[in-house]
Amino acid sequence: MRNLFARIFLSFWLIILITIIVAGISGYYYSNRIDEHITNFEVSDTVIEAGVILENQGLSGLRSWLGRTQSATPIRIFIIDRGGRDILGRQLPQDIDRWIKRFISFPPPRMDRRNRIARQRNLMPARPLTQLVGPDNQIYTMIVLPEPPTYEWMLKQSRSLIILLTLLVSISISYLLSRAIIQPVRQFRKATIAISQGDLDSHLGDTIGKRQDEIGKLARDLDEMAKKIQEASDQQIELSRNISHELRSPLARMRVALELAQRKTGETYELSRIESESKKLDKLIGQILSYSKLKGEIEENKKKIDLAALVHEIVDNVNFECKSTGIDDVEVIFQKNAQPVINGFTFAITGAIENIIRNAVHHSPKKSVVRVTLDADKQSTIIKVQDQGKGINKGEMEKIFYPFYRTSDAKNDKNKKGSGLGLAIAKLAIKKNSGNIEAYNLDEGGLCIQISLPLA
Ligand SMILES: Nc1ncnc2c1ncn2[C@@H]1O[C@H](COP(=O)(O)OP(=O)(O)O)[C@@H](O)[C@H]1O
Ligand SMILES: [Mg+2]
Repeated sequence: MRNLFARIFLSFWLIILITIIVAGISGYYYSNRIDEHITNFEVSDTVIEAGVILENQGLSGLRSWLGRTQSATPIRIFIIDRGGRDILGRQLPQDIDRWIKRFISFPPPRMDRRNRIARQRNLMPARPLTQLVGPDNQIYTMIVLPEPPTYEWMLKQSRSLIILLTLLVSISISYLLSRAIIQPVRQFRKATIAISQGDLDSHLGDTIGKRQDEIGKLARDLDEMAKKIQEASDQQIELSRNISHELRSPLARMRVALELAQRKTGETYELSRIESESKKLDKLIGQILSYSKLKGEIEENKKKIDLAALVHEIVDNVNFECKSTGIDDVEVIFQKNAQPVINGFTFAITGAIENIIRNAVHHSPKKSVVRVTLDADKQSTIIKVQDQGKGINKGEMEKIFYPFYRTSDAKNDKNKKGSGLGLAIAKLAIKKNSGNIEAYNLDEGGLCIQISLPLA
């Protein structure tokens, strides 16, 4: 069974159910045995036996006989002396006690002349009780009481009700118990999912972390772990930011020196190679800086952005670039189906869209089009960038958003040079604007990158 809740719930319930069934069965056998005893019990035999014992062995003999007989049967046998007390000194059932006292306290029946029973008010015509007469003429009254049948009778009366109640109670107990165990587990799962998605602020300390037991300790440990991860990640970003900054100054000085050299000696192959490589280096450092900037807190404020105008401008720029550099006659077409306004960081959104459109152009075959569409519904706007290239292997679809990840196709193609940072930056930028970005292959071929952003 995969579900922990169901497993715990069923085990508890099973245990409770088995206990109830075992108790029920043993109760049933016990009551059956009592029944058996009652049916097999011959009152007259017992009375005769008691009479013989009393006659031969006296009261003490009767006492030990009663003790032995009593321990062998569930049927209760009382032998009561004239004082109304049991000869074994046991407490009589209350109603019997009251009744017998009234009965015995009365003098024994005297026969009148005509051998009739004396007509005294409280005397009953015949005593419904067995009496034994001892050797000293002492009279003992013997009372045989079967086990009170009330429980059995009750059980028979309400058997289905009891089964129903048992089921209800056992189900509720099992459910509550399982829930008490599972609920913190679910909270932990929610927290770990949040942590794995980069939300390191998710705190359990305010909820189950307040508990004093092991679960509370575990929750506090998890919070502590998230804090440590956050610190490590902050340090890493800080480090890459510092390195990039430190690299920028010598690079700038190198480019000044390069310009001077070019002026002195004129353009040579080696110098122009140094120039293009230093430009790439500068771009890479710029990308690392943008990435670390987006990873941290953004200091500027969000602004209202007319997305249609922004996309239009980007498309125009890329088209101009394509024409001037002659990239295989690729054309970017912008289809505006809405005029959405969003609240966001302009530099982040511009960078992301520009990057995605450039990627599409770079991965497009000759004389093809890149289609950019802008749509909106009540809550959000959707930008799609579709190309007619080869698309991406399914297994790499998620990974293209990882920093420095380049697809195997790109790595094998000498013309496709890149750092693998572009889409990682784009994803961070869109996330900073509370949006979402995803990639999928189109049925007709090519890749579609889809961005959704909440409207202002
Ligand atoms: N439109 C596309 N079609 C096919 N592959 C793409 C497309 N866009 C991006 N990729 C691949 O995804 C990977 C990551 O892209 P990106 O982060 O922009 O890195 P790069 O700096 O190499 O362009 C790259 O290896 C690139 O080849
Ligand atoms: Mg790119």
